[in-house]
Amino acid sequence: MEAAVIDAGTKYVKAGLAVPDQDPSIVLPAAMTKVIDEDSGKENGWSMDESEWIKDTVYPIQRGVVKDWDAMEDLWRYIFYTGLGWEMGSEGQVLIADPLLTSKISKEKTVQIMFEAFNVNGFYAVEQAVLSIYAVGRISGCAIDIGHGKIDIAPVWEGAIQHNAVKKLEVGGQDLNFLLGQELEKSNPGIKLDPSVIEMLKETYGVIAEDQEEYAKKVEGCSSVEHTLPDGQTIKIGQERYTVGEALFQPSFLGIEGYSIAEQLVRSVLLCVPSESQKPLIENIVLCGGTSTMKGFDSRFQKEASLLGTPSFRPFIIKPPEYMPENTMKNSAWIGGAILAKVVFPQNQHITKAEYDESGPSIVHRKCY
Ligand SMILES: Nc1ncnc2c1ncn2[C@@H]1O[C@H](COP(=O)(O)OP(=O)(O)OP(=O)(O)O)[C@@H](O)[C@H]1O
Ligand SMILES: [Mg+2]
Repeated sequence: MEAAVIDAGTKYVKAGLAVPDQDPSIVLPAAMTKVIDEDSGKENGWSMDESEWIKDTVYPIQRGVVKDWDAMEDLWRYIFYTGLGWEMGSEGQVLIADPLLTSKISKEKTVQIMFEAFNVNGFYAVEQAVLSIYAVGRISGCAIDIGHGKIDIAPVWEGAIQHNAVKKLEVGGQDLNFLLGQELEKSNPGIKLDPSVIEMLKETYGVIAEDQEEYAKKVEGCSSVEHTLPDGQTIKIGQERYTVGEALFQPSFLGIEGYSIAEQLVRSVLLCVPSESQKPLIENIVLCGGTSTMKGFDSRFQKEASLLGTPSFRPFIIKPPEYMPENTMKNSAWIGGAILAKVVFPQNQHITKAEYDESGPSIVHRKCY
């Protein structure tokens, strides 16, 4: 059986058996609903099944970090036994994609749950940023993963994260949702928008101007589109379409002081990476994560990054090979995980059950990452 690969994010869990060059077979909201026993009224664990008696919904991961381990364990259980069809008693191997700066304790807890709760047959874990570089057929480059809860900026040299040069920003699609909701409620007084509608509007209409001047022009006067809401009301979306995307390039829109993503990346590489490795890293930038697929993002990023370059140092975005699936950049950490699983497990680089039993959870720091 192929190994299971799981990239659980703040919003979506991507999972599937390791078949390279394909999208994950499972992409689901990483949300668990608390099930209450109707007779006793007591909590009866967590479920992903929306038809169960829903009491409460929890997203176990916030800004990339596991905050509710019970719900996380139940989410993994659902993926293994329901989603992937593992049989209890003959569990397979698993590769987990972790965000940047995952704590040592969290890494140990993950490997412990995998062996002790699920009795997996082999375990490996690696950073999402490394996997996203593999997804585009490279081993070195800079990954910029803009998800729902965080932005990971990571130079990767020959499969290894350059730890002193990484940066995690606690900004993502959820903050854009919030901003768009505020803007639309200002321009459409009296209308209350459901969070899922705001997210859909962002994904459908959000667009990024070519540069700041172009954005200023759009704010001055851009035509509005009308959208009919599920309840029949209509709202107008005008400059908000551009403002939500502009926030990715002007962090002050989200109340954040700091460099833009492109500037942050270039600074990280110039200040923290040895000079001989800087050029190959900056010339292989991988933009990934759901939020990076907003219309116009790549070209604005390329434009801003180019302005920060020099004749001998030209920031350049690389694209996945044409034969890769359409959603490669949304699912790049999972896709890279599927590629790596085909190497790690057959070559016995993973943690075996015997090794785990002998060394305990701390073995994860020696054999993974
Ligand atoms: N076309 C689009 N335009 C703008 N945002 C989009 C688009 N498509 C998806 N997104 C956003 O991408 C986000 C989900 O991306 P992703 O699956 O990479 O996040 P995640 O892995 O769950 O979170 P994280 O990596 O931050 O922990 C959501 O906020 C979603 O609204
Ligand atoms: Mg993610």
